[in-house]
Formats: sequence, structure tokens, C-alpha cells
Amino acid sequence: MSTTAVAKHHVKDLSLAPEGVRRIEWADRDMPVLARIRERFARERPLEGLRISACLHVTTETANLMRTLKAGGADVVLCASNPLSTQDSAAAALVAEYGIGVFAIKGEDHDTYYSHLYAAVDHRPQITMDDGADVIGILHAHRREQLGDILAATEETTTGVIRLKAMEADGVLSFPVIAVNEAQTKHLFDNRYGTGQSTVDGIVRATNVLLAGRTFVVGGYGWCGRGLADRARGMGAHVVVLEVDPLRALQAVMDGFRVMPVEDAARIGDIFCTATGNKHILRGEHFEVMKNDAIVCNTGHFNVEIDIPALEALATERTKPREFIEQFTMADGRHIHLLADGRLVNLAAAEGHPASVMDMSFANQALAAEYAARNHGTLEPKVYVVPEEIDKEIARLKLEALGVRCDTLTDEQAAYLGSWDEGT
Ligand code: NAD
Ligand code: ADE
Repeated sequence: MSTTAVAKHHVKDLSLAPEGVRRIEWADRDMPVLARIRERFARERPLEGLRISACLHVTTETANLMRTLKAGGADVVLCASNPLSTQDSAAAALVAEYGIGVFAIKGEDHDTYYSHLYAAVDHRPQITMDDGADVIGILHAHRREQLGDILAATEETTTGVIRLKAMEADGVLSFPVIAVNEAQTKHLFDNRYGTGQSTVDGIVRATNVLLAGRTFVVGGYGWCGRGLADRARGMGAHVVVLEVDPLRALQAVMDGFRVMPVEDAARIGDIFCTATGNKHILRGEHFEVMKNDAIVCNTGHFNVEIDIPALEALATERTKPREFIEQFTMADGRHIHLLADGRLVNLAAAEGHPASVMDMSFANQALAAEYAARNHGTLEPKVYVVPEEIDKEIARLKLEALGVRCDTLTDEQAAYLGSWDEGT
């Protein structure tokens, strides 16, 4: 173990730190863009002395982001953005090996989850980094005296960005927020390929179910939903898509998926996974008609997409056949299996997105924090997109790391694209 002073913490077990270090270093091999930013941050120290409170999924990939912020000079504290997504060994390593304060334990109860959020707020952040807007929510609702300390914030996920835009529209947002999710190098890759692969991984790890030949119902055909639909099809499932947006429903149809209303899909699905960011997609009337042994789970941010109280109310018996599976017996004897308490199944039952895709998401986080530190004086209390030059630079660095070269415009081509009078 290192000689670094043990940072303030509430984690499961510090003796897990050596395993955490090995796993964090393993992830780091696949995070070359973030590693380059970390090297530059160590030289230039753009975050010198800034207190940052991060509320993210506490994974090996997040650990590499925390190391990067610290290398840039920040005084960082991390808490979990979900009670089930923490990797306890990564949390231990951050505290014991990398000297970063962590408040997160996998499986923490509601009160502990909130005490950890408040521990992050007690760090008196100047920059916050959220995945789901929890810290920003607490600051605005319960710690208004701290709002003046905040220079700027970043937000990782679609649901968080939706909430922050609602706060901006209501005129209650008190500081600028950079919406990392809106970067193209974030949602086009993380939400799509990351969620696609890791959600299938979570379902398979939890159940060991064969997807081939099964009817797999995907709730929502946004960036996460289309990634999941593609991957489930790749494993041989018959994929059905649920949508409320006609344009996206049409895209799903032309991508070769069946689209139908949830009441029809409920009768034929073997596996259901929601990815809408909305509430109560699967409700009591749907559980009443589902097939015996239907599996239901969610990969959207909050555990509200499945109406769990309705499922509980219909059940005559509840058992736990395996970790991450709860079996509900209906009055007619049918079983419905709920995975991971309806929380993000990819992070609860598996490890979340692979490092290679988090490389780009967290390069955006690191560069957004640097941008916020440099430019907060010129920003208003609004939701901002990541500047295009940062987005493009991350794509360029990722291609370089992958050993892929692409073309550049010739001068003639650039002039042609800028002209309006050259035709056939
Ligand atoms: P998105 O906005 O691109 O897509 C959501 C889709 O759901 C939209 O097309 C919308 O029309 C549809 N929808 C809304 N209500 C619906 C309903 N009642 N029935 C059917 N479809 C409905 O969002 P996204 O980027 O795909 O994110 C989806 C959710 O996943 C969010 O909560 C986001 O925060 C979360 N997310 C999770 C992970 C993860 O690791 N599991 C990663 C990224 C994002
Ligand atoms: N969100 C989805 N996957 C993740 C991961 N591996 N680490 C942190 N946040 C994530």
C-alpha cells in the first residue's frame, strides 16, 4: 500500500485496495485519451486548489477520472450516483492508494446514500460533477448558502441534463452547467455502444439467459435504446421497440425492428428492458398479461421506469433465486423476475460501460472541468454544451490512439464547400 495519507472516506473495506489498483490500472490501458489529459494536467495544473465534488458511478473508469482531476491540482471528493453501482475495490483504492476521499458502498441503503451525498456537499465544492443532478439538486433545495461558492458544474447523463434544462427554464438554476452528455463524443458512443453492450452484459450476468430466439422488448429508441436493440439483435433475439416519438419509432422500423404499443408487447416479451428516462413504462396492467418467467429490468437513470410498487402489490410471494434477481409470484402462479431492483442493470449486475468508451466520456468531463475553471467568469447560469473544439479534439485523439487515420479536405475541396456558384 502507498504512503499517501488515507483520505476521508466511508467505503466498504480498505483491504480491497490492492485489487482495486490492479483493476483501475487494467481500465487505464483502455483510456489513452484520458491518460494524455492526465499527463498534461500534471504539467499545467489547470485545476490548482479547486475543490471538486463528484457524484458519479464509482467504477474503475471513474477512478481514472478522479486521478486526472487530482493530477490537475483539484481537491476532489467522490460519492456514488447510484446505491448499487459502486465497485468497492475501486472505492478502497481511491482512498488508500490515490489519496482521494470517497463516500460509497455497493448496496448502501437510502439513508446512507443521502449521507454520502451530503458528505460530498460538505466538501464545499467550487465545481460539481454530477451523473443525474443529485448534488446540484441538494445544493438548490437544502444548501442554498453554498450556491455562491459554485463556479460551475458538469452533468454526465441525459436525465440530469433534462432536469437542469427544466431548472434553467424555471429560472432557478444558480450557476453554469456544462452538459457533457450533449457532446457528440459522449452520447453517440457511451449511450449507444456502451449501454448496448453493458446492458446485455448485466442481463446475462444476472440471469445466464440465452438471448437467441427470445423476444426482447426495448423501451425507448433513443441513444441507449438503439444501442441495446442492436446488441440484443446481434445475440439472436427478436427485438421489439416501444416508442412515443413518431420519428424515432419510424427510425426503429426502418432499422428493421418491430414497433408496437406496450400493451401488445407485454403479452409477447420474454425479456423487457427500459431505457427511456421516463417513469412507469411497465405498469400493473402489463404485469397482469406477461408470460410466465418474463424478465423485467431497466437501464435508464432512475429506478422509476418499472412501476415496482404495482408489481409488489400484484405479488403473492417474493423470493430471490439468484443475486440481482427477485422473483414475484402472481395470483395465477406466473413468475415475473425483476433484475437489480429496477436500477441500471448494466452497473448493478455488471461493471457499466467498458473503459474504452468511458475514455471519451471522461475526457469530456476532465476538459469540461478545465474549461469551467478557466471561463466561469464569462458564463451565465445556463446549461451549456461542451465547446465543439473540445469534442472534435477528443475524437481526433481517440482515432490517433486507435491507430486510425482519416482524410482531410484538400484546399480545393474546402473552397468548393464554401462556394455557391460552382455547378455541373
Ligand atoms: P434519449 O432521450 O435519447 O432517449 C429516450 C427515448 O425514450 C426517446 O426516444 C423517447 O421518445 C423515449 N420515450 C420516452 N417516454 C417513453 C415511453 N413512455 N414509452 C416509450 N418510449 C419513451 O435518452 P438516452 O440518452 O437514450 O437515455 C435514456 C436513459 O438512459 C436516461 O435516463 C439516461 O440518463 C440513461 N443512461 C443510462 C446509461 C447507463 O449506463 N445505463 C448511460 C447513458 C444514459
Ligand atoms: N456509466 C456507465 N458506465 C460507467 C462506468 N463504467 N463508469 C462510470 N460511469 C458509467
